[in-house]
Amino acid sequence: LDNGLAKTPPMGWMSWAQFYCEIDCLHHPYSCISEDLYMEMATRLVEDGYKDVGYNSIHIDDCWLEMNRSADGKLVADRVRFQSGILALSNYMHERGLKLGLYEDYGTKTCAGYPGSYGYMEMDANTFAEWGVDYFKFDGCYMDAEKIPQGYKEMSAWINKTGHSMVYSCEWPLYLLVNNKTVDYAEVSNYCNLWRNYYDVSASWNSIHSIINFFDLNQDKLIPVTGPGRWNDPDMIVVGQNSITPDQSRTQMSIWSIWSAPLIMSNDLRLVAPVYKEILQNRRVIAIDQDPLGKMGRLVVNTTNVAVYVKSVTPTDENSSQSSFAVVIFNRHLKSSAKVTVRLNEIGLTNSAGYFVQDLWSGEKRGIMLPDDQYIADVPPTGVNMFKATLTQADF
Ligand code: GLA
Repeated sequence: LDNGLAKTPPMGWMSWAQFYCEIDCLHHPYSCISEDLYMEMATRLVEDGYKDVGYNSIHIDDCWLEMNRSADGKLVADRVRFQSGILALSNYMHERGLKLGLYEDYGTKTCAGYPGSYGYMEMDANTFAEWGVDYFKFDGCYMDAEKIPQGYKEMSAWINKTGHSMVYSCEWPLYLLVNNKTVDYAEVSNYCNLWRNYYDVSASWNSIHSIINFFDLNQDKLIPVTGPGRWNDPDMIVVGQNSITPDQSRTQMSIWSIWSAPLIMSNDLRLVAPVYKEILQNRRVIAIDQDPLGKMGRLVVNTTNVAVYVKSVTPTDENSSQSSFAVVIFNRHLKSSAKVTVRLNEIGLTNSAGYFVQDLWSGEKRGIMLPDDQYIADVPPTGVNMFKATLTQADF
């Protein structure tokens, strides 16, 4: 969507894949969906260095609403759990240099059963604008499949009409998939800044791997529509939850970054172990995700166990139309590591002057490599090696 927003993939923190719909604040005061939770996460984002590396938004997901609208039809945040209201929460975020994301659903109810926007889209768009919401996630439960495209398009127009800047995140393709319908990605990308393609992520390797498989299979449809302001959304980053190993965490971060996917964490920032924090805050990898060219990388080598992804990144050379590249080598095997050898020109790295090559996770510099040279990596099971090959032209 060309609304001037999300020129690079959004980065932040979202509650769902960690806290889901925990609303029992009496028994779970530490982890229930409440303004306190979002304020605490904002504090951690700022104080623990996440904001400094680019994570700059806090996203409320489902279960923030009262069960009934007000007498004049407006949405009301839960009066106990969000006693100060959403406007106060967005002010709180803005004072700290953060943005606020909010969730609704265009059906009659949200997926968790709270009031949906159906019949109230204009009013709700205006309410979110009044509250200073910066990012809006629009879910698609409780709605007929036939109405999906129309509903997402209408809300896009209402948001635009408010005149308030709001990144628009859609689940349009997912609900078409659920209903066995084909997705017109070019159309989706004209109305939404990002869109969920596939089922919800959870903090398990199976879930992450199933998302990777779906994106691999569909890459020819997804790559052409990706660019500044329009991103595929493979769902939240679950790094920091202990059910994912550090190797698997590096895999999720690397592949999401090679795709130019949003990096929206869902974890408990108060409890993230140092090894995960370091993975989440690797600036070299984040820079690949946030690269201004905004390309979605491509799977170029695919054997039973090994996948190699390549993404064009800056710096580029206009004269030779060569670019730099980021490369991810992924070992799918669950138990054995893989020694992988890749000749650069076999994966499209053909610049005759060669590239400066650096391993992005370890930071190790591998020196200058020519197109005929081989990059060799020992890749752990369910893990990755990721490197950048930067053009060596003198003017860089
Ligand atoms: C759907 C969405 C999730 C989350 C839940 C909330 O499942 O895909 O990301 O927002 O609804 O109920």
